[in-house]
This record gives sequence, structure tokens and C-alpha cells, in this order.
Amino acid sequence: MKTPNMKEAAKRTKNKVETHNYELADNLKNIGTNKKYYIKTYGCQMNVHNTENIKAILENMSFTESKTQTEADLIIANTCSIRENAHNKVFGFLGRLKGMKNKKPELITVLCGCMAQEETVVETIMNKYKWLDLVFGTHNIYRLPVLLNNVMIKKEQEIEVLSIEGDIIENIPVKRDSKYKAWINVMLGCDKFCTYCIVPYVRGKQRSRTPENILKEVNGLIENGYKEVSLLGQNVNAYGKDLDINYTMSNLLEDVAKTGITRVRFMTSHPWDFDDSVIEVIKKYDNIMPAIHLPVQSGSNNILKKMNRRYTKEVYLKLVEKLKTNIPNLSLTTDIIVGFPGETEEDYQCTLDLVHKCKYDTAFTFVFSPREGTPAAKLSDDISAEEKNKRLYQLNEIINNYANENNQKYKNKTVKVLIEGKGEKGNLMGYTETMKLVNVDGDESAIGHIVDVKIEEVKTWSLDGKIV
Ligand code: SAH
Ligand code: SF4
Ligand code: F3S
Repeated sequence: MKTPNMKEAAKRTKNKVETHNYELADNLKNIGTNKKYYIKTYGCQMNVHNTENIKAILENMSFTESKTQTEADLIIANTCSIRENAHNKVFGFLGRLKGMKNKKPELITVLCGCMAQEETVVETIMNKYKWLDLVFGTHNIYRLPVLLNNVMIKKEQEIEVLSIEGDIIENIPVKRDSKYKAWINVMLGCDKFCTYCIVPYVRGKQRSRTPENILKEVNGLIENGYKEVSLLGQNVNAYGKDLDINYTMSNLLEDVAKTGITRVRFMTSHPWDFDDSVIEVIKKYDNIMPAIHLPVQSGSNNILKKMNRRYTKEVYLKLVEKLKTNIPNLSLTTDIIVGFPGETEEDYQCTLDLVHKCKYDTAFTFVFSPREGTPAAKLSDDISAEEKNKRLYQLNEIINNYANENNQKYKNKTVKVLIEGKGEKGNLMGYTETMKLVNVDGDESAIGHIVDVKIEEVKTWSLDGKIV
């Protein structure tokens, strides 16, 4: 049994990161025969992509995917730690899982992902969720076959969570949700240590994959007909800074654009690492999409400092200005936290002022949630829940107004949409180059293609149009 330790997880070593290849031992290739799995995923795209890996690992062990939880022989919760409500959802799910396990004792139950990396979560599981069969973390997904085999043989709780990240494992198989757009992790972990954030503890130190391995993946996707790749990292603009070759995000972005893949996206950008060279590359290649997610978190310099964000409101606004003047038709989105400990009315007004200046296409807004083990969780917090919610509500009203205003520009315009599949209303759906969701009227033969769509109706969260 190996359990996590947050203090260990906070350490950053100078150890050189090596790359190994994933392998599956022959004796584990059939242990899932006649068994079905179901995975419930919480959290960010990185976690969604990890689930795509877990699915393929299981299928290589002969498990098949179940559409429902009731038919599954193996249920996995791939979890997120980012805010308290993410935690609560997972514990709610575990409660229901217990009921299922009572009815069907041979059901194998698993928790993995970011919550598995938290000391207190694992303690709670060991004390109160003894029926849970397996817990593994974010650094040892490749160990799933061995761990699952142990559980199936020994029939006792297995916990293996590593606090210190290991090397990079390449060639982990992947079963992608989409046949047209793909997530690619270009770097793992994060070294920014924003004071409110648990990611650097649960995902470990920043480690970039080599350009060769990333480009090989992109080329493989092109061969398989993929139209779009999203390069993922917690602060993707810092890509390469940990490699001992002189190669950074602008080099990677340019090389990925040069493969000729139709659409390239990247996320998430931290303002600190957004170099001019990246802007130059975006300008140069039409297949790099004009949609940038640039989390600001707060518009108050006082709060930004307490958050350890390493930029001021002025520096951020200058970057936004530069992006808007250099990238025509830019869609700009952000993340904002309200109610950070000590956020005064004045600080909050600075955030609103920044939102008025940036006129975001949309924003993800959150009330600060203290995460155990992070520095901000220790700060005294004297803002009432009522006040925090009031700020969030008001901020959302303003954000929604700008979202709507930005979308109005699309009315009667013809835009390029990658049709991903059927929409909720039985018609088609897809995204514009600027990442706007479009409900499309058109023939199913358009699925998987980029088509011209004339926008007829504009809403705050989506556009409606028909293929022309
Ligand atoms: N790596 C990305 C964001 C990762 S988490 C970045 O640096 O921008 C996604 C968002 O969750 C963050 O941008 C932040 O707005 C929010 N978030 C993170 N920790 C939080 C916390 N403790 N309470 C509330 N929101 C939080
Ligand atoms: Fe968290 Fe900051 Fe890293 Fe983003 S950059 S993952 S907010 S520590
Ligand atoms: Fe959540 Fe982990 Fe992503 S904490 S946001 S799933 S990196």
C-alpha cells in the first residue's frame, strides 16, 4: 500500500525526467474477458483525456465498455479536487456506488484521478469506504492492469498513490471520444503554485513531453482523419522550459501547425509565459485557431499578489490589447475567482473594471474554495457566503451581457464549423474557429467535415445556423 503525502507532493526535484514506453504483460491481456466497465469522469480536459487512456488500457485487457452503470462489472470514478463541490459530487457518487456494491458484491469499484492524490481523501477512504476496491493516482495510470489484477486475485483493498511524480510514460493506448478532434497532453503537472490551487500537488512537477513524441502523435491523428488537435497543459505556454533543448511553446505551435492539421488549439495559457513569439506564430498560420483562454482570476493587484499570479492588472491588459490587435476575430475567454480571502469591495470593483475592458466572449467564474494543504486555505476569510454569492451573481450578469454582445456580431455571417455530430434537437452541432457552439441545420453527411454555416439566430451560449 502506498498513500499520498501533500508535503512530499509540494517538493520540486531537479531529477531528470525520463521517458519510458507503456507495456502490457501477456498474462493481463484477458483478465477482463466477459466483463464490462463504466467510467465516471469529473474535472478538466486533462482528466477527460486520462479517461480516454484508461478506457483503452481496459480494452487491451479485454474489458468492454458498458453504456450503463447497472450492467458494469467494474466502475471507476476519475475525480477532480479543484473545488469543494467537485469533492462533494464524488462522495455523493461513492454513496450510490456502495448501494450498488451491496446488491452486487462482485462489482469492482475504483477511485482514481486528482482526489486520490489527497492525503485526507485517502484517509477517509481507508476509514469509511473500506468496501472500495482500488485507489490509484495521477502518476501511475499505467499501473492499472497490475493493480486491477491484484484486486481480482486478493480481494482486498488496494491503494497505490505516488506523491512524487515519476517519469513520462509514452504510448499509453487511447480510446478517443471523438473521431475528429483530439486532446493531446503536451505537458504534465504545474510549477506555478498559485496560492489557492491544488493542481501542483495533485499533478506534480511540470514535465514536458518531447517534441518528437508530440509530433508523432499529431501525424498519427492526421493519418486517421482527425481535423483538430488541442494541445493541453495547465500552463501550456511554459511548454519546453523544463526540457534541456532550446525549444519552447512557439516552436511547438509552429511545428504542429506545419503538420497541416486543419485546426490547432492550445490551452490553458498563463499570462506569465505568453511570449511575443507565440503571438507571431499564431499570426503566421491560418490553422492556429483565434480562440484564447487566458485566465485572469482577479482584476485587483492586491489580490493577484496574494494569489501569486506574478502579473498585475496592467500587464494583463497590455497582453490582451496585444492579442486583440494582432489576432483578427479573436475570441477571448477567462477564469475568475471571487471572494478570495480579504477581497474587499474595492478589489472586486477592480475585477469588474477589468471585465468591462476585456469584454470577454465568455468566462468561467467561481467562488473561492479553500483547498486543504494550499497556502490560501490558511488565510483568514471574513467575507460572508452571502456576499460572495452576490459578487458571483453580479459578475455573471456582466459576463453574460458581453457574451451575448460578442455573439451578436455573428448574426447573418457565414462561418466555418467543424460538424462533430448530432445536436440535442436532432440537428447537427459543432464549433466555429472561435470555439462558439453552433446548432446546425443540415444533412448528416456533414459530420466530420468543416462546412460553411450561415448564422441565423444568436443566443448567449450558442448560435443557430444552416449549412450553405
Ligand atoms: N491551469 C489553469 C487553470 C486550472 S484550474 C490556469 O492556470 O489558468 C481552472 C480554474 O479553476 C482556475 O483558473 C481557477 O479560476 C479555478 N480555481 C482553481 N482553484 C480554485 C479554488 N481553490 N477555488 C475556486 N476556484 C479555483
Ligand atoms: Fe493552478 Fe496556477 Fe498551476 Fe493554473 S497555473 S494549475 S491555477 S497553480
Ligand atoms: Fe480537477 Fe485535476 Fe483537472 S484537480 S481541474 S481534474 S488537473
